[in-house]
Amino acid sequence: MALAAVAPDVLLPRPFAITRYVRDTHDTFTIELEPADGGGPITFEPGQFNMLYAMGVGEVPISISGDPAKPEKLVHTIRAVGPVTKAMQAMGKGDMIGVRGPYGSAWPMETARGNDLLVIAGGIGLAPLRPAIYWGLAHRQELGRLVILYGTRTPHDMLFRKELEKWRGRLDVSVRVTVDRAEPGWKGNVGVVTTLIPRAGFDPVDVVALVCGPEVMMRFCARELVNHGVSPDRIFLSQERNMKCGVGLCGRCQYGPTFVCKDGPVFSYERVSPLLGKREL
Ligand SMILES: Cc1cc2nc3c(=O)[nH]c(=O)nc-3n(C[C@H](O)[C@H](O)[C@H](O)COP(=O)(O)OP(=O)(O)OC[C@H]3O[C@@H](n4cnc5c(N)ncnc54)[C@H](O)[C@@H]3O)c2cc1C
Ligand code: FES
Repeated sequence: MALAAVAPDVLLPRPFAITRYVRDTHDTFTIELEPADGGGPITFEPGQFNMLYAMGVGEVPISISGDPAKPEKLVHTIRAVGPVTKAMQAMGKGDMIGVRGPYGSAWPMETARGNDLLVIAGGIGLAPLRPAIYWGLAHRQELGRLVILYGTRTPHDMLFRKELEKWRGRLDVSVRVTVDRAEPGWKGNVGVVTTLIPRAGFDPVDVVALVCGPEVMMRFCARELVNHGVSPDRIFLSQERNMKCGVGLCGRCQYGPTFVCKDGPVFSYERVSPLLGKREL
């Protein structure tokens, strides 16, 4: 595959300052960023990601988890797993982060107009889907049913609790949450997120399904949706791969004949089903 030609400044991070830091769970946090270079905000489409640079440590791809209608608040939700994300976890208000982006493909929100919108998230997968949910809520009148299914390992790992409660309180949104393992006090569903699909209440013919979570979860969700009559070209998944340039230059994120950074991260199930479950493609 031919590598893309890009302008040199595409690889230059812009300085952004942390204006808000929220601890979501024991290992996950959300930061709001504002430009510190006097430039404008980063406008984005739901599903896109930025390359975030912890000065002197390294750069990682992180999806934007904020509201696309409010780009002046650049929001990212991050799980601390390794050197770069742990360095960001240790930061606070006023600290600087380098930002490049937005990059990648988006959730197909225009395709959802006039159809049911089904959002299925596993774990931190709710973060890349939150902009799509904000979009759905802002365009509620233009959609059929709006259904959100969310599964986490334990109640402890649940993201955006207050917002989930708020969305659940609306009559025009259906929210179902499940955990793999209950804890004392948990009165909700127990079981993997796929178990919510049969009772979700969407029209399989007129639905657009957005799925994000661990790859195995996405694979099983997509299969379950197809078993329920959803066409593979109406199911969309967000893929994760290691990245370096983020713009189709280095080949690090190659995924079969595509690059996740520029052809993805959002792909239709129809397009990627032969590749799912295969490592290091
Ligand atoms: C398009 C895209 C969007 C992403 N969006 C988000 C996001 O919104 N929020 C977010 O937290 N992450 C997101 N990620 C994943 C994130 O980029 C990685 O977790 C990050 O690069 C890890 O960098 P690190 O240097 O901290 O850890 P590394 O040194 O790269 O990893 C340390 C260890 O953690 C393991 N590891 C790496 N990533 C994960 C993971 N996601 N979960 C569990 N273990 C892992 C590695 O295998 C390794 O053993 C996204 C990735 C892609 C490609
Ligand atoms: S080609 Fe460099 S990260 Fe995708």
